[in-house]
Amino acid sequence: MNGKIYINRNFTVGKAEDTLYGGFIEHIGRAVYSGIYEPSHPTADKDGFRQDVIELVRELDMPVTRYPGGNFVSGFDWKDAIGPQNERPARPDCAWKSIEPNSVGIDEFMKWCKKANTTPIYAVNLGTGTPKSAQEIVEYCNLPGGTYWSDKRKQNGSATPHNIKYWCLGNEMDGDWQIGHKTPQEYGRIAHETAKMMKIIDGSIKLCACGSSSGTLPSFALWDEQIMQYLYDDVDYLSIHRYFGNGDKNIAKFLASPEELDRRIEDVIACCDAVKAQKKSSKTIMISLDEWNVWYRTNGKTDETHAWKTAPPILEENYDMADVLVVGGSLLSMLDHADRLKMACIAQTVNVIAPIMTEKGGKAWKQSIYYPFLETSRHGRGMVMRSVVDSPAYTPAPGREPVKYLRAAAVWNQEKNEIAIFAINRAAETMDFSAELGDFSTPSLIEAKEIHHPDLDAKNSADAQNITSKSIDLHLAELKGNQLSAQLKPYSWNMFLLKLQNPAR
Ligand code: AHR
Repeated sequence: MNGKIYINRNFTVGKAEDTLYGGFIEHIGRAVYSGIYEPSHPTADKDGFRQDVIELVRELDMPVTRYPGGNFVSGFDWKDAIGPQNERPARPDCAWKSIEPNSVGIDEFMKWCKKANTTPIYAVNLGTGTPKSAQEIVEYCNLPGGTYWSDKRKQNGSATPHNIKYWCLGNEMDGDWQIGHKTPQEYGRIAHETAKMMKIIDGSIKLCACGSSSGTLPSFALWDEQIMQYLYDDVDYLSIHRYFGNGDKNIAKFLASPEELDRRIEDVIACCDAVKAQKKSSKTIMISLDEWNVWYRTNGKTDETHAWKTAPPILEENYDMADVLVVGGSLLSMLDHADRLKMACIAQTVNVIAPIMTEKGGKAWKQSIYYPFLETSRHGRGMVMRSVVDSPAYTPAPGREPVKYLRAAAVWNQEKNEIAIFAINRAAETMDFSAELGDFSTPSLIEAKEIHHPDLDAKNSADAQNITSKSIDLHLAELKGNQLSAQLKPYSWNMFLLKLQNPAR
């Protein structure tokens, strides 16, 4: 089978923002407690943070991390988690039926962010919370001092403001599982007032409205359009959440998930632009995919034995080789929409549906999906090229558009003068792959990597790294003029890095 990608220096999609490579830490399961924070762990620093985990997060290079939820945030009072740790109340976390000790709150999280080389996207509670409480956390975090809450922050040990730039107006407010679930009118009104009050305190913050949480909800799309009627002038982003699964063990359909993501992003852009047209606005709303991943093995399976415990092991999905192809392909879908998709957070970062896992008191280890994220985060920053991909296609499910076996994208890092070509072979056979580099002349191949395992069910564990990204012998790829050729193994993820002559031609 043949597969080819064509690019041309003059045809670009847009800049792939660094913020496409964000993570997510929710107070759920072992994400915080025994994930990022475990004071008794041998690698814990003076603040109780696991340095082994920090190292892995730094390696993934996640410029933003969404916090503190997720569903958790809709029942959370941020004031419970500030001040002396031993005076903080333990509360029932009604989203996940756990006990929240509140040992980690915004001040601790800010310390972790600095160590992990990330910055927060802070979600305010619009389930049980109020506009006033959201305004007060902006005051606590972003005012230098001289007011009740900003002085409280100083008393609590943070002399300088946290200066949080990105804020989410609630989480999944159209889902009836959400504590404080709202109609679009209820959400539109409260989110508008909240945005107004937050921006009175700090007009420089960037806000994200809570889009419909699932394409399967009857409210999908209508919700997005209706809430944007209230929020168009207030916000910079509208959120999408998208999780993929292979519960019916249909590999061809599962591997076509990135095309479902394409569709979702385009549908939500259409909702935003419909409101733009109605309002005759010159402003364009950007998209924040602030929860995305593969998640199906642990979805909907609530284990009551974990109820009302602190940091129970919930949603600890163990990822396989097939998931690598879907996570890798989703990242390529994001790149292909880089003109409008400006922020994304893999959900989540540690232990809970996450690329990084930890053992309590023991190792931190990398799941299979760690690797496509790592390599795309490393090489997928810069100008995304508008590519034409040519390969045979298949119909993933009745009624669906055919999907090409090859999913590919190219990113031109103009500072480094490099082009990264990502190519996923979704066929069960080897693919003769080529990349036609148009008017980028005389490139040289400096790196080639693949992620492949003959068994799509293969997984990593604390003791075995069965799936990793490996450098491949550069001689296995051939570069003739501006055409690169290589063979892609069946069901494999691949990346080719080319150095261009300076100046790029
Ligand atoms: O990431 C897990 C959960 O998925 C989040 O708490 C929620 O927002 C979504 O439904």
